[in-house]
Amino acid sequence: MAEAFNTRALAHSKADRYAEVAAEIASVLEGEANPTARMATVAAMLAQSFDTFFWTGFYLVDPERAGELVVGPYQGTLGCLRIPFGRGVCGVAAAERRTQIVPDVEAFPGHIACDSRSRSEIVVPVSGADGRLLGVLDVDSTELAAFDETDAAWLEKILQQTFALTTLP
Ligand code: SME
Repeated sequence: MAEAFNTRALAHSKADRYAEVAAEIASVLEGEANPTARMATVAAMLAQSFDTFFWTGFYLVDPERAGELVVGPYQGTLGCLRIPFGRGVCGVAAAERRTQIVPDVEAFPGHIACDSRSRSEIVVPVSGADGRLLGVLDVDSTELAAFDETDAAWLEKILQQTFALTTLP
């Protein structure tokens, strides 16, 4: 399954591609409850599915430091380790528990530039069991305005289907 996924042809339309990867993620993760394994798999499979995804990964609520996100599984260049709630796109998405679509990161007040090549991004809150916030999924692109409502709807759906039963230690 994993090898077939890595070498498969990609659907042309963005929505078709998301539909395929959503089904593949559910299939690969069937029977695997470990949160790190689930997050690492989602980050890898999304990153493999879209050429525009330059950085794809998770920032997680840190149970040991209130009000901070700490980096989780990701694919891409070196990410910042910690982001306070309310700061940057990730911090705002976590604090407001609302998806943020940022067409131009330079126009976003307080944007945190982990890699100056990132030009646009989408950040989606991740809820686990009992609706508790686990963290956020951050996807960055080197292109301006790479993300739209199709990305938001599909990423929200994938996260919901993948983490609805997950709890973090
Ligand atoms: N761009 C993010 C920071 C994380 S990285 O880009 C990997 C932000 O402003 O929240």
